[in-house]
Amino acid sequence: MKANTAKTELFDDWIRTRFVELNSALEDLYFAQADRANVAGIGEDYKICLEQEGQALIAALLAEGNTDQGFDKAFDLLGNVGLYMAACRRHEITEPSRETKSPLLEASALALQIGASIGVTPRFATAHLTTHNRAVNGRYKRFTNLPDEQLFVDYNTRGILAYKRAADALIKIQPLGISHPLTHDLMSAALVALQQVIESNSDLFEQLDAQRFFHCVRPYYKPYRVGSQIYRGANAGDFAGINVIDLLLGLCQGNDPTYGQLLVDKFLFMMPEDQQILRDCMRRTSLLDYFLAAGDQSQAPWYQANLSLLLELCQVHGETASQHHNQLVEKYISQPSAQMPEQYLDKLTASGPPLPVLLAALEKLRDRRAAAQRSDILTRFHDIQQLKATLE
Ligand code: HEM
Repeated sequence: MKANTAKTELFDDWIRTRFVELNSALEDLYFAQADRANVAGIGEDYKICLEQEGQALIAALLAEGNTDQGFDKAFDLLGNVGLYMAACRRHEITEPSRETKSPLLEASALALQIGASIGVTPRFATAHLTTHNRAVNGRYKRFTNLPDEQLFVDYNTRGILAYKRAADALIKIQPLGISHPLTHDLMSAALVALQQVIESNSDLFEQLDAQRFFHCVRPYYKPYRVGSQIYRGANAGDFAGINVIDLLLGLCQGNDPTYGQLLVDKFLFMMPEDQQILRDCMRRTSLLDYFLAAGDQSQAPWYQANLSLLLELCQVHGETASQHHNQLVEKYISQPSAQMPEQYLDKLTASGPPLPVLLAALEKLRDRRAAAQRSDILTRFHDIQQLKATLE
């Protein structure tokens, strides 16, 4: 791999040190106010330092024009530019509804050039903070030095890695088929991984402080403009694994227009290798469909053993979704926003739509994954009942 340029190193070093100090100082000031959501007129000197120091480092990189450093370096640099732009958005140095194009001209130019050249969205994505965030001497990149931010990112990463383990196991079943003796092992591995998602989410739920998360962590995940276009915020769902599980189990279907739309919208927020995996899975037959087509073999021991494990997998995947919605989204988004002054509510969510719209969409996703009995959306409730009836 080629070495970083000196300018890239300087910028990375700034992101890991001074940038964190400035954001943390601003968070302390905001959080000490009676109205914790207010950022206007607070810590203006820090904001100027943040904008100008970052701008100078980025302008030097843009002028250098040294973009041929390979995918990993380019992705990492895009992440650093994105962290800077997201922090400027958080402190309202930029504000997408106030502007028609980002005032961060050099940062936009560099982000657009890199994003387009490596096939990802030109903003920071979840992978930059979680699965592709290199630690230096035990410390990975973050916006602030707040323990709550680290807790949140640690558990996002843990959850994502566990979902990915489940997805990897399910992908390996495809070439073997549902009756292969080793398919049971792979389903068991997927089940263990999904149970680890549940454990990890419940630890996060116990430990994360709702006020700190809501006021000092989540605001860095808001949408912001790059050039003229607004790009939605990052969320822990921007990796293929979760959808691979949905599709390969069969709880969600690529030809369901709402779900298909969700996939289309998230492709560029994922790593290119994840985009490839997800495209491939969209063409595959699901495990639920394979079992529905194998009803004439329902007496076979493999059918009985593997189907009961598949139904357990569906059950636990539904539980992870219910836990995300009923616990995490409820405690850390819905409840604190209910106490928020009205003027802030329209800029609350990471993806951009008003909160009730986002919550309704997440609820439908939960119910697809839980195969709930609903007549207004496609769920696998009846198919699962039919399969359950074939178990002895
Ligand atoms: C998406 C909240 C932690 C997985 C979302 C969204 C919200 C949310 C509100 C919708 C995106 C948007 O705002 O536009 C939270 C909160 C968390 C949390 C408040 C903890 C405090 C996690 C963790 C995981 C996770 C630990 C595990 C990997 C997902 C997934 C999506 C998502 C997969 C995409 C939608 C889906 O496919 O379900 N989250 N989340 N989240 N989150 Fe979380």
